[in-house]
Amino acid sequence: MTFTHAIVRRPGRDMAAGITTSTLGPPDTAKAMKQFDAYVTVLKDCNLAVTVLKPLDGYPDAHFVEDAAVVTPDIAVITNPGAEPRKGETPSVAAALKAFRPTVDIQPPGTLDGGDVLMMGTHFLIGLSDRTNAEGAKQLGQAVAQFGCTWTTIDVAAGLHFKSSVNAVGEETLLTTPDFAGHPALAGYRRIVIAADEAYAGNTLLVNGRLIMPAGFPDTRGKLTVLGMPIVELDTSEFRKMDGGLTCLSLRF
Ligand code: GLY
Repeated sequence: MTFTHAIVRRPGRDMAAGITTSTLGPPDTAKAMKQFDAYVTVLKDCNLAVTVLKPLDGYPDAHFVEDAAVVTPDIAVITNPGAEPRKGETPSVAAALKAFRPTVDIQPPGTLDGGDVLMMGTHFLIGLSDRTNAEGAKQLGQAVAQFGCTWTTIDVAAGLHFKSSVNAVGEETLLTTPDFAGHPALAGYRRIVIAADEAYAGNTLLVNGRLIMPAGFPDTRGKLTVLGMPIVELDTSEFRKMDGGLTCLSLRF
């Protein structure tokens, strides 16, 4: 799929107050800003028009914009994030998306984080996690089914979100950690399985024929080389400390 736009949000100075399970220590905010700027530059290099939203006061995870919406070629589904402190992130993302797509909202008791949703052409793989429940997945599935799409759910027993571990690196190719490699929902795809000790590299992003991967995972980089695409490594160390990575820092469409 070719993307033309991305929406990102500049991290706030309060980003260290976000939710995390990481034991890597608090993020260096100044360093995170530089990493964010480098990320935006790479998205622009991928020929995306990038909308940069302002930090959202009181929402220290709000720069992880991907969790607030699922954007398809037809609609933008505005999520109901599964973490209570993040629920107020959605209105400003919805406002930005209204210029591009009709929007529909996930309604309580459904919860959904965009980080749990992987669009593979017209098929949606939806992770059921601590953030996304079966009702949220069903509402998303029904919304996209109106446009001829199909969907499957997958239990997320490792990582924060499904896309913490599994991502598209081709139209029919997935990069996956060993935890998900044998799941029946992934069986129809070519799978590149990364080493368990490089699990964070599962959060690799494919944008317009370029692979953007977190820096410092040489074994995974070697495995991706066979795809014959340019590979860009970005340092995401400060976002990793907040359980974040390359995919959740933007909405691409
Ligand atoms: N810090 C990202 C999240 O927990 O949603």
